[in-house]
Amino acid sequence: MNKPAPVDIKWGLEGVVFTETYLSVIDGEAGELSYCGYDIQNLAATATYEEIAFLLWYQRLPANPELEMLSNWLRENRRLPKVVWGIMHSLPDQATPMEALRTIASTLSMFDRSCHHEEEGGSSLCRSVSLTAKVPTIIASFDRLRRNRPPIEPRGDLSHAANFLYMLNGEDPPEMAARALGTYFVLLADHGMNASTFSARVTASTLGDVYSCVVTALGTLKGPLHGGASQRSMEQLLEIGSVDNVDEWFEEKMAAKQRLFGFGHRVYKAEDPRATILRGLSLQAADASGNRRWYDIAARLEERVLSHSYFQERRIYTNVDFYTAPLLSALEIPIDLFIPMFAVSRIAGWTANVLEQQQHNRLIRPRALYAGPRDLTWTGLDQREPLVEAQPDLQCVAGRPANCPAALSVPPRF
Ligand code: ACO
Repeated sequence: MNKPAPVDIKWGLEGVVFTETYLSVIDGEAGELSYCGYDIQNLAATATYEEIAFLLWYQRLPANPELEMLSNWLRENRRLPKVVWGIMHSLPDQATPMEALRTIASTLSMFDRSCHHEEEGGSSLCRSVSLTAKVPTIIASFDRLRRNRPPIEPRGDLSHAANFLYMLNGEDPPEMAARALGTYFVLLADHGMNASTFSARVTASTLGDVYSCVVTALGTLKGPLHGGASQRSMEQLLEIGSVDNVDEWFEEKMAAKQRLFGFGHRVYKAEDPRATILRGLSLQAADASGNRRWYDIAARLEERVLSHSYFQERRIYTNVDFYTAPLLSALEIPIDLFIPMFAVSRIAGWTANVLEQQQHNRLIRPRALYAGPRDLTWTGLDQREPLVEAQPDLQCVAGRPANCPAALSVPPRF
């Protein structure tokens, strides 16, 4: 086989443009973000999550009756089918909220056979609404069940954000908390071709259904370099413990050359505009909760990071996940629900991207440069032992499991 000509590999697809979109645009140099032409600063100050979902799904702002229609549609879809409860109850104790969410979202697809609104963009829009409405119910119910509390029925008179807080705690949320969470949902609803959205688009490009696309995206979101960074940011704050410990903790991390969560972005080479808004919002929420501990630690850590030459030289700034941590903490949302909170918001963007992909679909199928050996001679099983013996470092045997991705001597146990 001929060796291919050298190619310029775009590691991590950095800078690669594979499609066009009418949904959101990021100006990484200026630190700006807009949805369908509307600047995020304006949307955060005025829009509700329901309006943003409409904006992304229909690519224009809704008139009052249209917003009413979509809000009702979301409210009517909040309940989970009865059969899902059996699965919810049988999840193992060690299931994390993201594992539960991914599993239940996938399960729901088997019970959603009723959407045939072709005239409204095909069944994908109907299923997008249904799943967007149900995700908060899944998360709140899972959280209550694991705390041995009965799940709470969704309320039809509350907004997306207020209803989530109500289902989580069983009390009408303070107005400030519902508003802050609603703004958080607005801020995270879509964000260009981020990893989870891209993964949803890949699945959509195979003509996969909406549930498959969302489950793909949930799996991608979970990783600590993407949505998982919000939880890691909070873990950092917990590890630091008090403002007085920030400096020592920071020096230790720098000396150990460890990544700090909540900083850096593939596209932004200026401050993430969502971080700017979340900074103010998390301070307000901390003050309202009467506990500024996590906000104060975050603010001091940010000061150290942004004034350090390592970060300045690399143009690393605060990202969306950093102030998400003190904000969600002030709203008394458990730390392992931080990534699911991201999903509650981003599902509007994922599904809007799926709808867009369906409209101008071409199978997404990039290539990789094969860099391995070529033209090797096949050897039969009985002839391989001497060859393996000659490479002790690579042996995958009981005595040397370190080099073996899955030690062969230990069969997996479930
Ligand atoms: N802490 C310390 N160093 C960092 C950080 C960080 N948070 N981010 C980037 N760097 C350094 C890298 O070590 C690298 O240094 P080097 O050139 O000396 O090797 C350089 O900056 C470039 O880093 P890359 O990982 O190549 O840059 P990339 O564009 O892939 O990074 C990423 C983007 C993955 C988000 C990165 O900044 C990171 O790991 N941040 C921490 C995790 C995080 O907060 N993720 C959330 C992102 S926002 C979101 O997904 C919702």
